[in-house]
Order: sequence, then C-alpha cells, then structure tokens
Amino acid sequence: MTNFKIFIMKRVLILPGDGVGPEVMQEAVKVLDFLKSHCNLNIEINNALIGGVAYDKTQKPLPDETLTLAESSDAILLGAVGGPKYDNLPRELRPESGLLSIRSELDLFANLRPAFLFPQLSKASPLKEIIVSGLNILIVRELTSGIYFGEPRGIRREEGKEPEGFNTLVYKESEIKRIAETAFKVAMKRDKKICSVDKANVLETSELWREVVTGMSKKYPDIEVSHMYVDNAAMQLVQNPKQFDVIVTSNMFGDILSDIAATLTGSIGMLPSASLNSLQKGIYEPIHGSAPDIAGKNIANPLACILSVSMMLRYSLALPDLADRVEKAVHAVLDAGMRTEDIYEEGMQKVTTSEMGNAVVQALA
Ligand code: IPM
Ligand code: MG
Repeated sequence: MTNFKIFIMKRVLILPGDGVGPEVMQEAVKVLDFLKSHCNLNIEINNALIGGVAYDKTQKPLPDETLTLAESSDAILLGAVGGPKYDNLPRELRPESGLLSIRSELDLFANLRPAFLFPQLSKASPLKEIIVSGLNILIVRELTSGIYFGEPRGIRREEGKEPEGFNTLVYKESEIKRIAETAFKVAMKRDKKICSVDKANVLETSELWREVVTGMSKKYPDIEVSHMYVDNAAMQLVQNPKQFDVIVTSNMFGDILSDIAATLTGSIGMLPSASLNSLQKGIYEPIHGSAPDIAGKNIANPLACILSVSMMLRYSLALPDLADRVEKAVHAVLDAGMRTEDIYEEGMQKVTTSEMGNAVVQALA
C-alpha cells in the first residue's frame, strides 16, 4: 500500500527572521525543494515576515498577515529573531515579542528541545568525551505560560517612590497537566525516564507542579519519575548529563536549562526544536538564535535549521521516512569531514553555510 499522506497538500510557512536566520533558512529551503522535486513531498511553501525585519517594514514584530498565514499553515519553519538594532525599542515592538506572540496565539505550549551528541562531534563538547559521549536528552519546556506571560507585569514608577519592576509566575493545573502529559507520552517512546525540574523548596507554583506530575505518574507506571530542584539540575547537567532522558520543566527554567544542555553537545549550531500545540501543529526552529555577530558572513551552521526540517517532517507532516532521510544526510556530511566554523577541528574540511547546505542536498541525492 502506498502512503497516501504524502499526496495531501500541506502548507508550510517560512519565517526567516533576523540575523543568521535568512542564511540558514536558505539552506533548509534547498532541502525542502529537493524533497519536493525528488521525493514526492507535496507541500505549498509560503514566506512571511517576523521579528526585526517585520518591524522595519510594518512597524510590528508580528504583522497580522503573518499570523493569518501561520494560522492556516500546517507547519512553520522559523530562522531566528532579534538583533542589537532593536534592543532599545519598547518591549512590545521588539523582535522577541513577535516570537512570544506567535507562540501564544497558536497555543504552542509544548517546546521539545533535544540535546544529542553527534558521535562525529564528541571532541567539540566543552566537557570530557567520557561525560558526554552518547548523550541524548530531551527537554520538554512549557512555552506559553509561567513568568513569561503572567499578569500583572510591569515597571511601577510613582512620584516620590523608588521604581519597582514586577512579573507574575503563575501556572494553572490544566497547563501543568498538558505539558506533563506531553512529557510522559514522549518518554514512552524513549528510555521511559522523566526528571521534573522545579523549585518546590521555595515556590508554590512548583509545589503544584510537583503534585500534578506525581499524580500523572500513576497513569504511566512504566515510567520512572524523579524530581529535582532547578539549581541542582543545572549542576547535574554539567556534572553527569547522561543520567537524564526526558526533562520536563516550566517556561523560564526550560529556557535556561536548554541552553546548558545544548552547549554540552559541542555547538548550539547543531540543534533543532519543535513548539507544538495539541493538534501537533508547530513552529520548528534552530535553537541558536540570530547570532548578529556572524550574520551575513556565510559562516553560520545551517544544520540546526536543516534538522528542524526533519523534526517538522516527523511531527507535523507525519513523514518519518523523509525525516530519517534528512537526518542520514546530515550524518553523511559530518562523516565526510565537513565542518562549519563553530564545529571545526583540525584535519576537517572547513565549509561555508551554503557549501554545507549544498553538501546535505547532495547527500540526500
Ligand atoms: C528561546 C529564546 C526565547 C525565549 C527569546 C528569544 C524570547 O531564548 O527560544 O529560548 O526566551 O524563549
Ligand atoms: Mg533561550
């Protein structure tokens, strides 16, 4: 029987964004174009603006047109947003606000951030090979609530008083439940181990978080569940990262821990991510950000963006065979010794962003 899914036209929205975003996206699009013309990938590709470039053209970091297109797409591939040029804008006009708004508008509450070590890059990690070889962690970060979105928030400036900044950390039980459920489900397909990270020794939100995760663990008796305070988790990630399989945590803790976990793998230029809603629609993006210091130089590593294509094929387009194929192509270029600057080591072949993209397309063929 043929896989009929690949004959249904899906809509993919491309949001290159700022900094190195457009450069790495160009290479990811080469991969998509190849899959379209050679592997029956039946998708319609649209482009739109987000972040600083969107602000420059429309005075909004998330133009209405982009949101409308995003709502009608099956999956979104995003490069990166942000840059020093925009740092002094009012908060709601900054590129990051565009990203936070699209996450929230599409209800993309489940952020999956894998941190795995490519065996070809085991020497690139800042940690000893013995500590990181075989590392394979998945951070499941809550993405649309917590202190990032809690109200009230602001800076109070009152006559005769000292200015006061404030944010609200709040989680509803239902919000904890759905992210925990996501973590339990993905853990079932992995090593069946979850570490829930919180700060229950200090925060009431964490107390509730722990209660909900513990409650849910009764539904999943095959999964080994542990709880860890976030400060300890940060240390354990550096000291003994291989103890972790799935980490589930809140928005801000996940933001911080995912950068640590990514760095363990040698380069944040290698890692993709998915932000999903309850219908498996999602935004796929490299976790490296806009890297303004190297933007426009054709030296950024496009592999995280290309691997984001692979995650998109797997999760939102339900095409695991094509996803595997993209991953194999990435392994092949690494096996062949090709390295962008961020993962370069002596004896390897240093390549540019576009050379790396072309090599992946060639490996696909
Ligand atoms: C991330 C980024 C974003 C976040 C910023 C750019 C708003 O750091 O995706 O991890 O904090 O979520
Ligand atoms: Mg971050």
